[in-house]
Amino acid sequence: MIRKLSTIVALLTVAGLLAACGGGAPAGADQVEVFSWWTGGGEAAGLDAMIKIFAAEYPDTEFINAAVAGGAGTNARAVLASRLQAGDPPDSWQAHAGQEIIGTYVAAGQIEPLNSLFEEEGFGKVMPATLLPLISKGDQIYSVPVNIHRANVMWTNPALLAELGVQVPTTWDEFFTACETVEAAGKICLSMGEQWTAMHLMEVVLLGELGPDAYNALWDGSGDWGSAEVTAALGTYAEVLKHVNSDAAGLTWQDASQLVANGDAAFNIMGDWCDGYFSGTAEGGNLGLVPGEGYGWAPPPGTDGTFQFLSDSFTLAKGAPHAEGALAWLKTAGSKAGQEAFNPVKGSICARTDCDVTLFNAYLQTAMADWASDRVVGSLTHGVTANDTWKNEINTALGLFLTDTNRDVDAFQGALVAAAAAYPNK
Ligand code: GAL
Repeated sequence: MIRKLSTIVALLTVAGLLAACGGGAPAGADQVEVFSWWTGGGEAAGLDAMIKIFAAEYPDTEFINAAVAGGAGTNARAVLASRLQAGDPPDSWQAHAGQEIIGTYVAAGQIEPLNSLFEEEGFGKVMPATLLPLISKGDQIYSVPVNIHRANVMWTNPALLAELGVQVPTTWDEFFTACETVEAAGKICLSMGEQWTAMHLMEVVLLGELGPDAYNALWDGSGDWGSAEVTAALGTYAEVLKHVNSDAAGLTWQDASQLVANGDAAFNIMGDWCDGYFSGTAEGGNLGLVPGEGYGWAPPPGTDGTFQFLSDSFTLAKGAPHAEGALAWLKTAGSKAGQEAFNPVKGSICARTDCDVTLFNAYLQTAMADWASDRVVGSLTHGVTANDTWKNEINTALGLFLTDTNRDVDAFQGALVAAAAAYPNK
């Protein structure tokens, strides 16, 4: 028995040495668990495209796809929070550049800095300068961005607009006039979905009504949430909400944007993951439409010249069970090959400056041009402008506003003033 045990120990030692000498995968490289919310139309296909590149580059590392369904990560982030609390982190998870990373995961000490990876892979040299401060605290860089998404897009149904003789509105007053025609024809003017899509609409209305400087000031502490301008902008938002579908609360973002694609609604305000959903193939759960024909796009009223952005990135968990696997994944996620596979399918542009423009469709090429020339501001709903506690407080106030049949703007604004005072970004 003793002899047998010592033989086993000897064999294990040899196996360990072989692995250490490159005869096998290093510790923790046998797999990687990657957590995201990309499961549905317009999202899963993009992730799959990047997983294919990863599998080719790291054939010995098993990719465990731990995605949890639900747009904007509303479900996934709750699952992630309880896993983190239980000390059971996925190796790498999807996180938005900005306060979601810095004011939330870094503040809680849940992720590792990635400076050596950035140096080895030269990411700092090819990633947009706008982005790096949003994933850094002091000298430490905390995530690998995979894309840039645009939040302020108004998607349209060109055939329906032509049939009704309606122009794409450039002001909210023009929008209200357009709605009269659209609604008289029995169609929905602006399609909307569950609550996070109402927050998305709210931030776009605030940006359009306040302009980029006053919008930014709301987040950096220099602006006044109680101002008359904010009252007016929230009043516009309340008016806009009168023109959305009555079943919004029960619809996903795909359901809501599909209403535009089907010609049941004229407009939808949503990020450009819609482009992936509209133009992607049917096998990938998408609608297979031609950009500019099956769907159109324009800046929502008042936001022309401003690119309201967000960026998906991936982290390395503190205490990651498969740190080596996670670093391999992060290399693919930051690479040109990984991003060129992912972004044209996802409906986003690269978080690198060297991707091949010809791989991207007509919509995404306009996004690239606008990203390079527009004023860039951040998204609230998608993690850039506010830490999680502040955003959650805004979300609670918004929930009350949406269910309040009187749409009490003063009460809503009061709650937003209180939220900004209680949970400023640090
Ligand atoms: C955003 C995310 C996008 C897209 C969208 C809808 O928060 O950054 O990549 O997935 O949610 O789910």
